[in-house]
Amino acid sequence: MGITDGTQIHGLGIPRHGAGSERGHFQGPFHAVPGLAEGKAAFFRQGSKGQVASAHFRPTGYPEATVPSPFAPPSAALPFPPEFFDNNNGPTGHEEAVMSRLRVRTLKPDEFGKLAVEAGFLGEWPSFAAYERWKRGLGILRIHWASPGKTVYFLGVAKGRDILAAARLSAVPFYERRHWGKEGDRRGEVQDLILRTRDSAPLAKLLEEASIRLRALGIEALGVSAWDSTHWELLENVGLRPYARSVLLVWDTASSLAKSPNEKVRIEPWDLTMGTGILRRIQRSSWGFFIPPESSVQEVLVAWLAGEPVGSVYVNRITGNLDFGVHVVREHWRRRIGTALVEAARRLCLAQGKSRMSVVRVLRALGSFNPHDRRALCFYQATGARLKWEVRGFRYKKRATSISLPPLSSLDCDAAQRKK
Ligand SMILES: CC(C)(COP(=O)(O)OP(=O)(O)OC[C@H]1O[C@@H](n2cnc3c(N)ncnc32)[C@H](O)[C@@H]1OP(=O)(O)O)[C@@H](O)C(=O)NCCC(=O)NCCS
Repeated sequence: MGITDGTQIHGLGIPRHGAGSERGHFQGPFHAVPGLAEGKAAFFRQGSKGQVASAHFRPTGYPEATVPSPFAPPSAALPFPPEFFDNNNGPTGHEEAVMSRLRVRTLKPDEFGKLAVEAGFLGEWPSFAAYERWKRGLGILRIHWASPGKTVYFLGVAKGRDILAAARLSAVPFYERRHWGKEGDRRGEVQDLILRTRDSAPLAKLLEEASIRLRALGIEALGVSAWDSTHWELLENVGLRPYARSVLLVWDTASSLAKSPNEKVRIEPWDLTMGTGILRRIQRSSWGFFIPPESSVQEVLVAWLAGEPVGSVYVNRITGNLDFGVHVVREHWRRRIGTALVEAARRLCLAQGKSRMSVVRVLRALGSFNPHDRRALCFYQATGARLKWEVRGFRYKKRATSISLPPLSSLDCDAAQRKK
């Protein structure tokens, strides 16, 4: 067995759950992450001084199938299972040699911003500061990758002077319907992942450090959000599984919509004096529950048809996002009322000098497109929105069965149209 950087390891590392034949430097309970990268496995353990060792192997002559199950956890709550931390043997010289090549550093925001620019993920945002403002504004959605939590660290994993992996680590409130942390109302969230290598070791190191720092803050659960599909693969390789999926769709406000709106519909601004009752009725009918507007940051537009309020949208003044989406009373669906709302929102954003308008949809199902997701996605697509990001949320799951998520490109809106 040889370490990927060429350092020879004398002996096999067999995790505690495994066959138990150890020799050389790999004694004691290790925890394997099979398939960390192609044909590789990683082992982690923590020494008496709190240091965590990991090595990165290419198993040769050691069939992958015999690498014991990665995490055989007693608790589903932890980002990494408790066994990960409970070995009191210090790391061996070989392990230290490997780990010493990767160092974790807390990055200054500017430093991280520079990396983000280099990694190209700022795209249309003119600066990292502008991206930060947008991200903070999107926090109003309280979803897995956009919530009003606090950035606790920007972390970087470096080999020598090169930063191979970096991310934002936030402490966020738990907004998921079911808490998957231990007790507590906060969880950690790794976001804005930058990976400059296809090797999983820097990512594993980053997540390991993130969970150690979170524990120091009394936070047990860790989620990771990523919109780059190559990152999804690596995250699965280090043992995490998707638990959430959402899309960020954008319109160019200068382009007219692909569909013409219902001309009988009147779109009017809403204000507090009108009361929230009409908005409540619309949303209860459209998706079953009500999220009141935040009038300090959202312009609310209401669609009226024959004197009746039939639809609404909240346009965020800071982000240009249609917060919580477009809503039309169910019995009026498919009359281009939603289109009329998107058109009015587009004009509003344009008048405010915004070149883009966006919407976020958190999909309700992972393994298939359910009718609600299909309807919303097909509607946005039909009005000319394009996919900017598909953001997937990952976490550690007790039963880490692989689930295959159908690609967004396989969503058949023509079939959905035929069904109406
Ligand atoms: C999504 C929603 C706003 C659409 O409103 P709407 O007034 O029915 O939409 P429109 O009539 O303007 O539709 C415009 C186009 O979108 C597409 N579309 C709309 N509903 C669709 C559906 N169920 N399946 C496939 N395509 C659909 C069609 O191409 C349609 O064009 P057409 O008139 O030529 O068929 C409405 O269904 C709704 O309120 N859904 C529940 C709330 C919700 O989930 N909102 C999104 C939150 S992110």
